[in-house]
Amino acid sequence: MARIFVCQDNALSDGEAIRVGDPSAAIAVFKVNGELFALNDRCSHGNASMSQWYIEDDGTVECPLHAARFCLKTGAALCQPATEPLKTFPIALVDGAVYVDVPEVA
Ligand code: FES
Repeated sequence: MARIFVCQDNALSDGEAIRVGDPSAAIAVFKVNGELFALNDRCSHGNASMSQWYIEDDGTVECPLHAARFCLKTGAALCQPATEPLKTFPIALVDGAVYVDVPEVA
């Protein structure tokens, strides 16, 4: 497992997202109601960045391209056209800094 620094916790406001990691396998980190979530940035339906669109107060995010919605907590696809979930990643908060834990690539 590798730990990637995201940002200082106070640098991310409620309702905001930030994209981190390798561009080919980017991760979107969201903050909603003070809670942090990390998911694949690329939509499971197509080539859209999930960090670039609507974060809802109900803990879901809507894809900018075809409006599929995903659960921020589980990554589950909640409506068409997406049918596959987004991968989720553990978040670590250490001394006010946000990190995401990702599997090592062999
Ligand atoms: Fe996200 Fe189509 S690319 S719903």
